[in-house]
Amino acid sequence: MNKRSTIKIARIIDEAEDIKSFVFAHDLTAKPGQFIMLTDFEGGEKPFSIADCTSNEFMITVKRIGEFTTRLFQKQVGDYVSVRGPFGSSFFVSDGNVLLVGGGYGTPPLYFLAKELLQNGAKVTVVNGAKSKEDLVFCNKFRELGVEYQNITQLGCLGREGTSVDLAEKAMEKQKFDHVYAAGPEMMMKALQPLLKDLEYEFLFERYMKCAIGICGNCTIDPIGIRLCVEGPVLPKKLVEQLTEFGKYHRDATGKRIEF
Ligand SMILES: Cc1cc2nc3c(=O)[nH]c(=O)nc-3n(C[C@H](O)[C@H](O)[C@H](O)COP(=O)(O)OP(=O)(O)OC[C@H]3O[C@@H](n4cnc5c(N)ncnc54)[C@H](O)[C@@H]3O)c2cc1C
Ligand code: FES
Repeated sequence: MNKRSTIKIARIIDEAEDIKSFVFAHDLTAKPGQFIMLTDFEGGEKPFSIADCTSNEFMITVKRIGEFTTRLFQKQVGDYVSVRGPFGSSFFVSDGNVLLVGGGYGTPPLYFLAKELLQNGAKVTVVNGAKSKEDLVFCNKFRELGVEYQNITQLGCLGREGTSVDLAEKAMEKQKFDHVYAAGPEMMMKALQPLLKDLEYEFLFERYMKCAIGICGNCTIDPIGIRLCVEGPVLPKKLVEQLTEFGKYHRDATGKRIEF
């Protein structure tokens, strides 16, 4: 829905080094996997996944990377920003035995999904990975939900060294899942895909977005030309399997190909 709302920041939560959640007292009526476009009217408008959403609040979780997110980090409770959305496709909310695979600051939309899955009666296992302890988010939030939860870092700071794909592989050896969901770096999903030959899955893609309403064409993906802001960002297995550029290259703001 391309409706613009100018809203106050209700709460700010420090999640990890350079990662903060922003909570807004606003009825967004979103589904897990969808995203909003946010601007502070000081330059640019950027996409952010919805990390949680209830009837009167929603939350995004932001990693400070460049100019826009640095400005967002300077905002205080009570400051105004403006949002459009929610946009895009959402995850299928299963009622079976499901595995959620998250990586870095890409993990938060899986929290909103986990809540909806639990409400639908699913048995939920979450594996969460990041480069270091400082990049790992939502550990306590997932534990508080009561899901089966494990985390790991590439640098081994929590005692085990590896990725969420390693944890996913071990979890799949122990039990049979009906559906796998992943959100995080594209190369994490690329490494996960060969393990999911016999399983249904959905991946959340983060590619460069401008309009978010299917007009500019910046987020189309080869060779099928679907727009990730409309037909994505959540894609099911049958579409992911057709993507020749998955894990190979993406496009920048000008549409130029950038190799991963
Ligand atoms: C569907 C979707 C959901 C996203 N959800 C989150 C989220 O929940 N939390 C979060 O921290 N980030 C999220 N992002 C990425 C976020 O939009 C960028 O981190 C942010 O725009 C960086 O802006 P910047 O000016 O701080 O950095 P810049 O220096 O402008 O850019 C740094 C990097 O951020 C990415 N980026 C910049 N602009 C865009 C854009 N318009 N569209 C997509 N990627 C961009 C590019 O990879 C770029 O190399 C999401 C992106 C997409 C497409
Ligand atoms: S961002 Fe413009 S078509 Fe998707």
